[in-house]
Amino acid sequence: MESTKLTLSQKKPETVQSDMLVYCLSLSAKDKVNIIETPNSKELKKAIKLGDFKGNHSDTFLSYSNDSNSKKILSERVLFMGLGHVDEKENTELRELCRKVGGVVASKAKKLKSSRICLNLPQISGLPCVEVIECLVEGILLGDYNFVKYKTVSKDKKKQPFKGIKEIIICSAVGNKGLRRGMNKAKHSAAAACTARNMANEPGNGWTPSDFASYGRQLGKKYKMKCTILNKSDMKRLKMGGILAVNQGSSEAPKLVMLEYKTTKKGAQTILVVGKGLTFDSGGISIKPSAGMQDMKYDMCGGAAALSVMRIVGEEKPDVNVIAIVPSTDNMNGSSAVKPGDVIRHYGGITSEIVNTDAEGRMILADALAYGIKKYKPTCVVDLATLTGAVILGLGHHRTGLIGNNQNLVERVIAAGDKCGEPLWQLPIDKEYVKQIDSDVADIKNTGGRPAGTITAAAYLQKFVGDTPWTHMDIAGTAWDFTSKSYIPKGPSGTGVRTLAELIRNWKELT
Ligand code: BES
Ligand code: MN
Ligand code: ZN
Repeated sequence: MESTKLTLSQKKPETVQSDMLVYCLSLSAKDKVNIIETPNSKELKKAIKLGDFKGNHSDTFLSYSNDSNSKKILSERVLFMGLGHVDEKENTELRELCRKVGGVVASKAKKLKSSRICLNLPQISGLPCVEVIECLVEGILLGDYNFVKYKTVSKDKKKQPFKGIKEIIICSAVGNKGLRRGMNKAKHSAAAACTARNMANEPGNGWTPSDFASYGRQLGKKYKMKCTILNKSDMKRLKMGGILAVNQGSSEAPKLVMLEYKTTKKGAQTILVVGKGLTFDSGGISIKPSAGMQDMKYDMCGGAAALSVMRIVGEEKPDVNVIAIVPSTDNMNGSSAVKPGDVIRHYGGITSEIVNTDAEGRMILADALAYGIKKYKPTCVVDLATLTGAVILGLGHHRTGLIGNNQNLVERVIAAGDKCGEPLWQLPIDKEYVKQIDSDVADIKNTGGRPAGTITAAAYLQKFVGDTPWTHMDIAGTAWDFTSKSYIPKGPSGTGVRTLAELIRNWKELT
């Protein structure tokens, strides 16, 4: 979590005082636990002999310091943590394995109210120790997340919830500058993903377009990035008919937040990130069924990811320019709301027939994409949006849907997602799909019917990116209720943040 202190130590782990000391143990090819000699080895060996600890991935065995070992072991508890088999596994698989182990450590810490934990850095032959530490710490920090802002704190100390891990001490005999770097990377990634989760966990009345604007300004100030906010009057002047139409039925002011990071490197390329910041989606006049409608407070997760990643950018100052744009409004059905059949004109002039007011995400993104591309002339654009229910039917909650007009960029995003445990899957966008959004009365219409809903939504966006290399991530299935794993809590996952960070950190000229 945000305030967790990270310490690197060359001490022997036994000599560090903590609430819980963790040793990670792998399995040999013959399924034997690769034992590490510690003052608690006797207990461990007994547990293995009795079959209580098998050393499979995420198996745990908890033991304690006692009279016979208390002089040699200063931590209250000793947790033996199974890694399972680590040989002959690929980089991405080992990274995910470490994050998951970290997540299990965090849940044990929560259960045992251990706020100071110490971890013996394991050696994994297929993964550089810089990445082992990065992924373990990232898993712990992501797993340690909780959102209790709206819970009244009990006066009874015993009933008070665990306040999170205060300190993580990683012990490694080999002092290595890279270890600190790996740890910091983890800290930046996890903090940014948790920032996105916090925004998403806020209810519709706790996180409005104005809150996106203030957060953008706050980041701009902290990291000296230029922040520009477009208000409703600016949108009118610029003729941003999409976001204005969606906002028509609401009493909440729309905002378009832009944050610019400029690298000092000369001639660097520019990545534009656009995120859907729909702070509540009622569907508008094409109103949604009431069951589950409360989840539509999460319809701003794309915007949350786009702004949160700028925290990492501000901290790490990569060699590439990064611009984030978040168009933000809610989608309500007040008396002046946009109606099915209405025709609107987007920024840049394309007209659109509004067939369904619930297909509002593409309407606000269209203006933001067209405007962002005109204003910043980026090398490429990546957008993220909880855009369609259809992507959940196709890919479930396990992969983000990905569509793009530039295969090189698409493949980079897929590789970045794989590397950080946020897998994506590419969908096609042939011209037959594009035809589905032809309108009889306007240039395009805002839905293409039920078939291939995710693709036709992307086809709508594609009308506004021209020749600029572009990819669209449909995170409707992964932004919350994401595939269950130890470091992903229930509720919003913060998906997209770490994928974008990975993409940006390793940016190589796109040709
Ligand atoms: N925000 C929703 C998409 C969504 C639905 C996200 C369920 C997560 C879970 C989006 O604005 C929407 O309503 N899309 C419609 C589009 C349709 C009207 C063409 C949908 O998917 O049903
Ligand atoms: Mn909608
Ligand atoms: Zn929506």
